[in-house]
Amino acid sequence: MNKNIAWRALIGAGILSASGLVMGHGDVTPQAVNTSDLEQLGAEWRDENPYREPYEKHAKAVEIGTSAYNQNCARCHGLEAISGGIAPDLRYLEAGIEGDEWFKERVINGAVRDGAVYMPRMADYLSQEALWAIRTYLESVAVSE
Ligand code: HEC
Repeated sequence: MNKNIAWRALIGAGILSASGLVMGHGDVTPQAVNTSDLEQLGAEWRDENPYREPYEKHAKAVEIGTSAYNQNCARCHGLEAISGGIAPDLRYLEAGIEGDEWFKERVINGAVRDGAVYMPRMADYLSQEALWAIRTYLESVAVSE
C-alpha cells in the first residue's frame, strides 16, 4: 500500500496528535540556507520549479536542496527523504508541475487541523530559492508508485 495513504489513515484516527508530533506556534528553528549560487527569483512565487533544467542549474539546486532539506524538513519527513511514518514520504510527490503546485501550496500554507500545527508555514522561514532547491532535491530521489 502507498505509505502516504497509510499515513493519512493514522492522522485521520488522531494517533499522530496523541504521539506529540503536533507543535505549538513558534516552535520552529529554521536553519539559514545560502542560495546565492542560485538564480534569484524575486518576491513573487513561481508556479513551476525554476531549477529543473538545464543540468548545471539543476545540479547546484540539488546540492543546496539536499542540505536545506536535511536541516529543515528531515526531522518530520525523514532523513534522505525516507519517511519514518510521522509525515508523508516526499519521494512520492508527483513529478512536474502538478507536484510543484502541491509542494508550493504546502510550504506556503503549512498544514493546520483543528488549530494544531502539523506542518509550519515553511515559506515564512525559508526563501523561495531555498524551497525550490528542496523540491529539486526531492525530485532527484523521487520514486514512482
Ligand atoms: C513539524 C513537522 C514538519 C516539518 C518541519 C515539515 N513538514 Fe511537511 N508535512 C508535515 C506533515 C505532518 C504533513 C502532512 C500534513 C497533512 O496532510 O495534514 C506534511 C506535508 C507536507 C507536504 C505534502 C505531502 C503530501 O504527500 O501531501 C509537503 C510537500 C511538505 N510537507 C513539504 C515539506 C518541506 C519541503 C519541509 C521543509 C522545508 C517540510 N515539509 C517541513 C510535517 C512537517
